[in-house]
Amino acid sequence: MNWLVRGLNSSIGTKYLMAVTGLLLLLFVITHMVGNLQIYLGPEVFNGYAEMMQGLGTLLWAMRLGLLLILLVHVRCAVKLTAEAKEARPVPYAMKRSVAASYASRTMFMTGMIVLAFIVFHILHFTTGTFHADLYAEAHEGSHPDMYSMFVKSFHHAPTAIAYMTAMVLVGIHLSHGVSSLFQSMGFVRPKYREMIRVTGLGITGAIVAGNISMPLMCIMNIVEVPGVSS
Ligand code: HEM
Repeated sequence: MNWLVRGLNSSIGTKYLMAVTGLLLLLFVITHMVGNLQIYLGPEVFNGYAEMMQGLGTLLWAMRLGLLLILLVHVRCAVKLTAEAKEARPVPYAMKRSVAASYASRTMFMTGMIVLAFIVFHILHFTTGTFHADLYAEAHEGSHPDMYSMFVKSFHHAPTAIAYMTAMVLVGIHLSHGVSSLFQSMGFVRPKYREMIRVTGLGITGAIVAGNISMPLMCIMNIVEVPGVSS
């Protein structure tokens, strides 16, 4: 068992753990987006989906706990690798432009921390109903929660929609490097894979950013509305 802990604590082990947890988080973000895109199918379908998720009960809590654990391991690996990189090179580069790395790769830690702050804000919004508490209370007045109305009305509020769209751009910057980096950490290092990895990474990231931005955008433009409520 000791060899496993030592292995995972080594630089290579930490990189691998970061890639595996990154992949699991990426799968979550894709599934989560596909679920949310059902907003375009109307209140009945979306509320049915939300109710089905809530109906999972203990399983939903197990999934939430698993996700939290994966996120914590991912962040812990990021902190460790960043500290190690600083230790290896305590004096900052005199000319940032001389570093042969993309903007996304140089800002991974910063964009990661912003995405983390977004997740906290996002849970306070939709899961606990702390932010936009009035809309959350209104959505839970009837016998069946109306998450569709909460979702759409939240994004009719321009600052909320703009905050989400901005956060999605940062999620995109983080993923644009993260996705190709995780493929490399998992062993796809041959030059012949390089272009394929780059294009796949950009494709996945582009689809996630476009899908996620479309939702607040369609609401703020009143293309997605709550039936019977004029805005
Ligand atoms: C415009 C984009 C997004 C929308 C509209 C959206 C919508 C939602 C909604 C409605 C919920 C509440 C689910 C519930 O408690 O029933 C939720 C929960 C959550 N979202 Fe998002 N989401 C978006 C993007 C993201 C992104 C990019 C991430 C991760 C980086 C994320 C992470 C989470 C997490 C961790 C939860 C808590 C899960 C839970 O309560 O079980 N979301 N989201």
